[in-house]
Amino acid sequence: MAIDDGQSRATADITSKSTASSAHAAPVRWRSAWVTGASSGIGRGLALRLARGGCRVAASARSADKLGDLAGLDANIEPFPLDVTRAGATADTVDDIVERIGLPDIVILSAGIGRFASASRLDAAYFRQMMTVNVIAVADALAPLIPQMIARGSGHIVLVGSLAGYRGLPRAATYAPSKAAVISLAECLRFDLAPKGIVVTMINSGYVETPMTEDFDFPLPFLVPLETALDKIMAGLAAERFEVRFPWQMTLGLRLARLLPNGSYHRVITRVLGPRPGSRGGEPRSRDGAE
Ligand SMILES: NC(=O)c1ccc[n+]([C@@H]2O[C@H](COP(=O)([O-])OP(=O)(O)OC[C@H]3O[C@@H](n4cnc5c(N)ncnc54)[C@H](OP(=O)(O)O)[C@@H]3O)[C@@H](O)[C@H]2O)c1
Repeated sequence: MAIDDGQSRATADITSKSTASSAHAAPVRWRSAWVTGASSGIGRGLALRLARGGCRVAASARSADKLGDLAGLDANIEPFPLDVTRAGATADTVDDIVERIGLPDIVILSAGIGRFASASRLDAAYFRQMMTVNVIAVADALAPLIPQMIARGSGHIVLVGSLAGYRGLPRAATYAPSKAAVISLAECLRFDLAPKGIVVTMINSGYVETPMTEDFDFPLPFLVPLETALDKIMAGLAAERFEVRFPWQMTLGLRLARLLPNGSYHRVITRVLGPRPGSRGGEPRSRDGAE
């Protein structure tokens, strides 16, 4: 994986402190948005921030009830329930959204699943599912959108990677490859789409307080409160940064670790992130029948 591909001027660690709550309703530049993963966590938070900033938001996830509740919080939000693993469903949803609110100015593909478990129990079916939700579904969403954005000459595509995608990690043999693919996809998209007037952003965070991380039974260093994460992401999107990454401590550590030769990297990461005595080695409590 590239260590520094010369894009550093367009990337930045966003380290500013959480902004005041009034910023949560700050006007945004986008007039329309599509957010996947909008029923929970980061996607839900971003959908609300955009809507409160005056943007019309198409909100997608499987949980129609949660999307309904979200829409009840702000009239700018309209639910478009979607299971991104259903072949053809995503393209149909894109058509519906374009028909109802027009081609979105910004598309945030936050739908994702995450689970950490030892590769000694590699579950091929779950690997396939995670790749489908975290990677294949992103292509399903982008394929019908990109030609329309190119024809319009503008658009902002936001992919949600993870610092876990930077390099291999313990207990991450399913999650990390999916996020490495997202990072690579974002890097490739940027080359092809920037000349067409389309902005590409990837969000690479460490641990953020969301329902996803509630299930993790291992230390979560530098865990970021959701609202703080949303502040950083919104600031990065407004600045059209290519990479939004935080928290800075974990970003710095992993970026430096990427420079290490394989043997040193393995030793350092094993010492820092190896299983703790008495832990279940990073297995989740129960979600998705993992026990
Ligand atoms: N939290 C973190 O520490 C962290 C760190 C780095 C990156 N990320 C990434 O950030 C993104 C959001 O994570 P989060 O922490 O906000 O997790 P979350 O609270 O669990 O939310 C995940 C969202 O994805 C949706 N989703 C899952 N499967 C789906 C499917 N088949 N079709 C449609 N929607 C689906 C869920 O909605 P339904 O269940 O209603 O479908 C939910 O809205 C993910 O891509 C994750 O990998 C998270």
